[in-house]
Amino acid sequence: MTRSDRASALALVSLLGLFGAACGDDGPDPKAFREELLDPENCATCHPRHYEQWLGSMHAYAADDPVFRAFNARGQRDTDGQLGSFCVQCHAPMAVELGLTEDGLNLDEVPQHLRGVTCYYCHNVDAVEGTHNNPLRLAMDGVMRGGVDDPVRSDFHAAEHNRLQDGRDRASSDMCGSCHDIVSPAGAHMERTYVEWLDSFFADVDPATGLPPVTANQCGGCHMGPGEVGAIADVEGVPGDRTFHSHLMAGVDVAITDFPDAEQGPALREAQLAAMERVRKNVLCSSMCVRPTTEGAEVLVWLHNEAAGHSWPSGANADRRAWVELVAWGDDPAAPIYSSGLVDEGTAILDLDDPDLWIFRDRLFDADGMETHLFWEAASFEANGLAIPPELSVVADAATWVVHRYPLPEMPERLTLDVKLRPFGLDIADDLIGSGDLDPAFRSAFPTFTIEPAALEWPYVENPEDPSPPWTADHPELGSCIAPATSCRAPELRD
Ligand code: HEC
Ligand code: HEC
Ligand code: HEC
Ligand code: HEC
Ligand code: HEC
Repeated sequence: MTRSDRASALALVSLLGLFGAACGDDGPDPKAFREELLDPENCATCHPRHYEQWLGSMHAYAADDPVFRAFNARGQRDTDGQLGSFCVQCHAPMAVELGLTEDGLNLDEVPQHLRGVTCYYCHNVDAVEGTHNNPLRLAMDGVMRGGVDDPVRSDFHAAEHNRLQDGRDRASSDMCGSCHDIVSPAGAHMERTYVEWLDSFFADVDPATGLPPVTANQCGGCHMGPGEVGAIADVEGVPGDRTFHSHLMAGVDVAITDFPDAEQGPALREAQLAAMERVRKNVLCSSMCVRPTTEGAEVLVWLHNEAAGHSWPSGANADRRAWVELVAWGDDPAAPIYSSGLVDEGTAILDLDDPDLWIFRDRLFDADGMETHLFWEAASFEANGLAIPPELSVVADAATWVVHRYPLPEMPERLTLDVKLRPFGLDIADDLIGSGDLDPAFRSAFPTFTIEPAALEWPYVENPEDPSPPWTADHPELGSCIAPATSCRAPELRD
């Protein structure tokens, strides 16, 4: 940032009276707010790894994401500005807190270090005053709150333990969760990650002790872990046995531009993609059975959410497209006899004419019951006589599996099953391009991921070198069945 940016931000901050009593008789108060605390780059001197991981996370990118910019611009136009700070309150919360933006249309003028979900923002929260739409309250002091019980004194900032930033504590999920849960202005519960987590066994409380049971897992337990033992600041004399928590906070989304620039962007994206693969390592279980029928053949596919502490997919599910790709071959290995969910990179899955398509996503409806994908038009599901969409019933509980049937013209020789995920649907990209809000050049940047743990290939060809062979069996009614592992079988296939 330039000197003048900094000077103007400082002037603004002083104007708002955000400086605490900076000086007393004992010299400067270490707990007083200082403007330098707002800039993540200043943290990098002593916390270089935290900084670099954060820089590659969606938190740093939240206000620079061209899709966010496009959606917000369209929303402001469609609502004549009524949308106000609804979107930026989560995507650039520090800028809103400082009064630097009211609608997110001027984000280019907001200094980079105040865009996105910043270090100071998370580490200065001292109260959670609700369950959705970012009800977090900042102390606006100079204290960095975290999960370390007895932080050593740093020259740069005062530090304090706080339950809200301690990933072992349930309160930390309330902190993350209240931003990861969105109710639209018209009452649609559009993103529900927090309530889904609350409904899962990861959020249970042991009735005997009132404490979380062994199955408990906070948001940070999966998205910031596993912790690594070592120093947490590059400062001489700090303890070497602290726990370092990853700030990549990987999910399913990546930057579609070289953020923050062409030099650092590609390496940061690589690190983010690797973290995403780790987080999804065991995310889904699948099973598949194939049997001949009088009409040809039938394939049954089961899926179960094994390791996401909320529904799968979760979050921005109105924009997300997750689906099953099933391909069957007869004796010609070059020409499939059947496929469902098979599209090339550039085709929107919803453009596929596919009666058997199995897709997981939210559908939003406006107050008149018409389908929409514009958040600001989405009315409550209940108002439309709709429960939470049934597609999302894949929840983290061992009993909940979902099943889908595929009719095949003949008994196949070979089948492949993949679960695909697009963080952002191309049908929605096309709409934003059509309305002139999104540059068409981005269309080819949206990735499609394969959820590896759910992939299956039938029949299994015996291979003594295979370190983790799948489970296979002939079932008296369901036919020839396969699952990635014995522990990953659908309930119908258990003995
Ligand atoms: C001059 C070095 C220095 C700078 C710059 C610095 N820190 Fe720290 N920070 C430390 C030290 C030292 C500790 C304590 C480490 C320990 O006790 O092991 C610490 C601890 C922390 C903690 C843990 C607090 C707790 O109780 O859990 C957080 C959070 C933190 N820093 C955030 C930040 C943020 C955010 C910035 C940028 C605004 C920043 N730090 C800049 C040196 C620094
Ligand atoms: C989305 C919220 C969030 C953002 C943004 C964030 N942190 Fe953290 N940070 C946390 C949480 C939560 C913990 C505590 C994890 C735990 O104890 O389980 C933490 C822990 C820390 C710690 C203590 C050591 C550790 O690894 O537990 C330091 C230091 C720290 N963060 C620095 C930073 C810096 C520097 C930035 C920005 C470059 C930053 N954080 C951005 C949420 C955040
Ligand atoms: C038990 C582990 C676990 C817990 C607890 C957990 N998550 Fe997740 N989370 C995952 C996994 C696994 C994924 C999916 C990754 C994938 O499919 O590639 C995920 C995905 C996400 C995503 C991306 C959206 C998507 O479509 O899946 C967000 C956002 C998210 N989690 C936020 C949270 C928040 C906020 C909390 C706490 C309220 C939380 N998570 C708790 C494991 C967990
Ligand atoms: C101030 C609001 C806010 C808080 C607090 C917050 N997040 Fe986020 N988080 C966001 C926003 C906004 C994005 C998405 C940015 C984007 O995609 O443009 C995001 C993205 C993510 C993602 C990536 C989602 C994906 O699809 O890949 C994960 C995982 C995540 N956050 C986890 C956490 C965890 C864990 C915490 C608590 C330690 C937390 N968040 C706290 C606002 C917040
Ligand atoms: C309560 C906080 C909150 C509000 C309000 C909010 N967002 Fe988000 N947004 C998030 C979080 C958290 C994520 C990440 C969730 C995920 O990736 O699943 C996200 C992800 C996104 C994404 C990336 C994922 C996708 O859909 O492609 C876009 C774009 C986005 N938001 C746009 C908006 C717009 C536009 C608005 C206003 C109409 C808005 N958001 C309002 C918190 C919020």
